[in-house]
Amino acid sequence: MIITIDGPAAAGKGTLAGVLAKTYHLAYFDTGMVYRAVGLDMYLNNDSPENENKAEEYALNLTFSKMNQLAQNPDFRSAIGGKYASIVSAHPKVRAALLKMQQNFALNPTFADGTPAQGAIYDGRDTGTVVCPNADIKFFITASTEVRAMRRFKEFEAKGIETDFQTVLNDMKARDERDASRATAPMKPAVDAIIFDTSTLSIDEVLAFALKIIDKKIKNS
Ligand code: C5P
Repeated sequence: MIITIDGPAAAGKGTLAGVLAKTYHLAYFDTGMVYRAVGLDMYLNNDSPENENKAEEYALNLTFSKMNQLAQNPDFRSAIGGKYASIVSAHPKVRAALLKMQQNFALNPTFADGTPAQGAIYDGRDTGTVVCPNADIKFFITASTEVRAMRRFKEFEAKGIETDFQTVLNDMKARDERDASRATAPMKPAVDAIIFDTSTLSIDEVLAFALKIIDKKIKNS
């Protein structure tokens, strides 16, 4: 079974994907990591993320082990990491270079320890539209910009990252705008995606809704 969860930053994709992966024994691929890895690698090497050909070189050289190594860097999840990821992700050559790596995971999904999984759950922006257009179930999760910025601000606070709400909100707006307006694979729901807004829903409500849909799909297959 392949499930995709797309949507903007801090909509609740990762939390939902983590629980669903455990419940249905699915391997989890957070596809934002591939773009974060390319962006951070460029940042650490003082290369401009605007340079598409250079960014493509980094993308072509990316491996899962390199990505996991870069993920240990504190800037991987920081505002600068998110900004660089969103800039490099707008380059068509970068997206093309990273597509196979993402699609191959569905052919042979494995857990972090290498054991085979019964399927995969993807989270990202274009996993239901481009990466896995034939996924069994597609979700698109969203929430208001203010709610998402507040969630991200609290995450930064909890990690001891110094920032203020207005900066986080402005960054979030800029990133949403870049992700939704780029020419290649813009963030948008697949035509057959189930869309829900988590602005006023608890994680338990979102989860109950998703479980119902997946269980129904399993029963009917
Ligand atoms: O999900 P996350 O915030 O880690 O993603 C970082 C950035 O990577 C996003 O802002 C987006 O620009 C890009 N991305 C993408 N396509 C995906 C996943 C992430 O363009 N499937």
